[in-house]
Amino acid sequence: MCGIVAYIGKKDAYPIIVKGLKRLEYRGYDSAGIALFNDDLHMYKKKGKVNDLTSFVKGKNLEGKVGIGHTRWATHGEPNDVNAHPHTCQNGRLTLIHNGIIENYATIKEALIKDGHSFQSDTDTEVLVHLIGAIQEKDNLPLEEAVRIALSQVVGAYAIVVLDKENPTQLVAARKASPLVVGIGKDEFFLASDATPLVGYTDQVVYLNDEEIAIVNANGTFEIKTIDNEVQTPYIQHLNMNIEKLEKGDYEYFMLKEIYEQPNTIADCMRGRLNAAAGWIRVGGIEKENVKEKMLNAKRFIMAACGTSWHAALIGEYLFEELARIPVEVEYASELRYRNPIINKDDVVIALSQSGETADTLAALEMAKEKGALIYGIVNSVGSSIARITDSGSYIHAGPEIGVASTKAFTGQVTALTLMAINMGYKRGTIPKSYYHQLLRGLEEIPQKVQEALECNDQIEKLAAKFINTKHTLYLGRGYNFPIALEGALKLKEISYIHAEGYPAAEMKHGPIALIDENMPVVVIATNKSAYEKIVSNIQEVKARKGIVIAIVTKGDQEIRKIADYTIEIPDTEEPLTPLLSVIPLQLLSYHIALIRGCNVDQPRNLAKSVTVE
Ligand code: M6R
Repeated sequence: MCGIVAYIGKKDAYPIIVKGLKRLEYRGYDSAGIALFNDDLHMYKKKGKVNDLTSFVKGKNLEGKVGIGHTRWATHGEPNDVNAHPHTCQNGRLTLIHNGIIENYATIKEALIKDGHSFQSDTDTEVLVHLIGAIQEKDNLPLEEAVRIALSQVVGAYAIVVLDKENPTQLVAARKASPLVVGIGKDEFFLASDATPLVGYTDQVVYLNDEEIAIVNANGTFEIKTIDNEVQTPYIQHLNMNIEKLEKGDYEYFMLKEIYEQPNTIADCMRGRLNAAAGWIRVGGIEKENVKEKMLNAKRFIMAACGTSWHAALIGEYLFEELARIPVEVEYASELRYRNPIINKDDVVIALSQSGETADTLAALEMAKEKGALIYGIVNSVGSSIARITDSGSYIHAGPEIGVASTKAFTGQVTALTLMAINMGYKRGTIPKSYYHQLLRGLEEIPQKVQEALECNDQIEKLAAKFINTKHTLYLGRGYNFPIALEGALKLKEISYIHAEGYPAAEMKHGPIALIDENMPVVVIATNKSAYEKIVSNIQEVKARKGIVIAIVTKGDQEIRKIADYTIEIPDTEEPLTPLLSVIPLQLLSYHIALIRGCNVDQPRNLAKSVTVE
């Protein structure tokens, strides 16, 4: 977590860094800081959001053509002004920003204290900059060399940028297991946790690899080396991102904008991959040589993910098992990586991640790779760490997702999985031809149907007002709608701070039913065709205990309307495609409840968008 931005060049660094920090604020927002160099170093740090920092620095010296900035999600040390980054070394010469965790910081700190160092903050980051400073000072080494030596002594994850006030015409940056992008402009460089701060300035980028160091100079030259001092040939990529996607436009929150983008983002995910009239689905990632055979003949798929991406994976399990008859296991990446799982060469491990940087997912993939499995990524963030370590994969093309609550990335992931499952089912001969074509037509209609589903917004806004003081909510679903129940509950919890649980509807009788009384809202996703009577019975069971039923039903449903307290209609579709529609009202419900409760929808407390620490 944490976002870092740095600039060196001919322009004023402050506005560039602040704008960049605002774009990276989704990564962490408990404190922020900036260091600028003109005649001397000027450093400002503040607890709170980037806006708190900008108010704090009004009227202060903000000049400088070089600077570094940070927006924090606290790991070591509570969020306060002192623990905010940047941090400086013992003699005050070096200033550093950091994203990641230095795991052996306590040992290093102890040794440094013995050598006379004193620390201001409780952070691991301050220890790192002291270490670099001590190494530099001892043998009067160039910064780059001191960074290299220090990094060979640390255990953990880092993306860092260091500014040396004795040599302010250079910045030294490095990464390991935390992302870092170098933007190359004309006689200027940008360094950032992701490419969004670069948009509008340059479209030339280099994504640093693990254990690489970038040395960028104000004269327009730069070099990339490994921490073993081997010079690397930089792989400069073209950045394809536009400003519109990074701004809220007329929406109050990114989350709402992203919910409303879904007809387009789902269409973008299918673009070039589906043609119902011609009867084909093509997913580049699974057509690749060496990948196709392995995937089609895989003994099983293991899907690894966290949070909302894990819910998408669960839908993947239902899709691949039903349509392609491939056994699937869905794993929390954080559990998978610390077990001793049985993973074989004929397994395919599919990672799902919006950010492509989730530390646990990345580590689980690395482990699976070592065990010889084929690694496939379903990722949103282009050039991210997961996208780069996989053998093959499919981008979901949802564009930057900035609201911490994942919405359009979820439907993008489900769309990619659906395309893959239908394609593989067809190739493996596990779906009848007529059903295959039916699914293709159904999928092509999904963006339009999502648009229709969004029309329930006004109804949901009114409904939301009735539930703002609720303490607990239960979400129930069966089959494809069970993961949607989990996802609906997660959305409500994370942005409105109302406790919510998602359950398979039938499991209700094994415990949660005890919670139901006249105060308990129960959201039932009841669009199933195959288990319709069963879900109707579950609703009856809730009503018999006076629970308040909010039912998501298929358009035209009459039966549930008679028994539920509230019904929300979504368009009809083929059952395996239902999750792409049934999730929409639940996203809106959580959004409106959180909004009316006065919560910061895009930046819920304690959370960060990109979980790059374990
Ligand atoms: O970037 P990832 O998809 O790997 O992130 C995984 C989770 O952290 C993420 O889905 C999280 O649960 C969302 N904020 C939920 O809305």
